[in-house]
Amino acid sequence: MKAMRPPLSPVRESSPPDAPIHPFWLRVTHWLNAIAALIMMFSGWRIYDASPVFRGIVIPPSITLGGWLGGALQWHFAAMWLLVFNGIVYVALNIASGRFFSKFFPLSPRAVLRDLIAALSGKLAHADLRQYNAVQKLAYLAVVVDLIVLVLSGLAIWKSVQFPLLRELMGGYDNARVVHFCAMALMAAFVVVHVTMVALVPRSLVTMLRGR
Ligand code: HEM
Repeated sequence: MKAMRPPLSPVRESSPPDAPIHPFWLRVTHWLNAIAALIMMFSGWRIYDASPVFRGIVIPPSITLGGWLGGALQWHFAAMWLLVFNGIVYVALNIASGRFFSKFFPLSPRAVLRDLIAALSGKLAHADLRQYNAVQKLAYLAVVVDLIVLVLSGLAIWKSVQFPLLRELMGGYDNARVVHFCAMALMAAFVVVHVTMVALVPRSLVTMLRGR
């Protein structure tokens, strides 16, 4: 049998060994974030359909949320507050506790490549759920940045007149819609891969629910 390879970049774990794998605040913010992000995605698809950015790309109404444009906007704006405030709590607690640096760094292109090759050939170990492999670290950091881009491009579309600098940074109103759509597509792709990986390692779901 081939040896399973541990992730290349070890985590400098400073928490005691009996501490939960995922602290309580992390689990709460993760699930609130997942609920808010999914509500925003499904209601956003209905809003998009009312005025498609790309000719030929229309989302089937049956997989959208809100029932009609007005209903979808209500869902989108309600979930927006949850996403933003919960996201601020997640980032602030991660940085203040030092978890952000110990959990996601060090991270190098070499480590990502090695862990990606090991993962694709089925040789990446998942024995220690305290430790993210380099591909996970990159994916989680990328989706956090992607969510920030989603919020900022959304703000540029929603309050385009009030935030002219933001609008111009996004390349103008029409381009902000393209940025918003592309960032949504990236998040959707992340969710598909993320949920597939969780299904392959179901114990990770238990730890994200119970902490250990
Ligand atoms: C939009 C939706 C989602 C986003 C943006 C998201 C994002 C993330 C991020 C950033 C992390 C790392 C958290 C950290 O350690 O700081 C994470 C971990 C995790 N997520 Fe999600 N997530 C989403 C949906 C889901 C869903 C639907 C599930 C369950 C099916 C799930 C299950 C997990 C699990 C189990 C982990 C821990 C992985 C591990 O320990 O290896 N997530 N997620």
